[in-house]
Amino acid sequence: RSAIPFFREMDPEVTESLAPYLTERTFKKGTVIFVEGDEGDDVYFIRSGAVQIYTFDGTKKVMLAYLRDGDYFGEMAMMKPGAQRSASAEAAQLTKVYALKRNVFERLILDHPRLALYLLDDTMERLRKANQQIYDLTFLNVRTRIMKRLLRLAQENGTETPEGLLIGIKVTHQQIAEMVGAVRETVTKVFNELQEEGLIVIRQKMILLPNPELLVKRLQEEN
Ligand code: CMP
Repeated sequence: RSAIPFFREMDPEVTESLAPYLTERTFKKGTVIFVEGDEGDDVYFIRSGAVQIYTFDGTKKVMLAYLRDGDYFGEMAMMKPGAQRSASAEAAQLTKVYALKRNVFERLILDHPRLALYLLDDTMERLRKANQQIYDLTFLNVRTRIMKRLLRLAQENGTETPEGLLIGIKVTHQQIAEMVGAVRETVTKVFNELQEEGLIVIRQKMILLPNPELLVKRLQEEN
């Protein structure tokens, strides 16, 4: 539990005392944890794995966030009795979580106000990111959004190799499309352009940035 920042905000004895109220659940890759519109009264803390948060209208899917171990989700509907999930959650890898019910969570916050400050800070960070996303979708073209996204993926999951910066997770064109609000065909077209320009290289279905500085430079020039 100490790997989860939310729990680190509490004294170890408090975290220990929570053990009986935490339900451990495991989801295989691809399992839908809940669907937008469901009612939900628990919040989930990711122990290991990754969870994709998305909204889907039956045809188009938009990824709102990609959460990893240490992150939490489901707090929005959990906070308000009867509220619906504002988005869907799917395990992007084999994922283990702790689930916590509203009544326990509320008691915890009332007893330990520092937790409320932590959540507020984190919520503001999510809002900051969402505002950035609004800006990008309003003003940047698809090619630029893809380039920016690749740099962010590299920042979050990059490993230095002799050939350049390798994005250490496999992402499909479809997933990139969902991240940047585009269709798969457009991502394929832009990827072909970026490959021809030497800005990206595909290695065993993974993306390598042979010269990330050049990608940053292009990004600045094109805006
Ligand atoms: P809830 O509405 O219960 O169910 C969907 C969850 O997705 C939501 O709670 C949040 O935990 C999470 N979520 C929704 N929008 C975002 C976002 N923009 N960034 C990060 N997480 C989000």
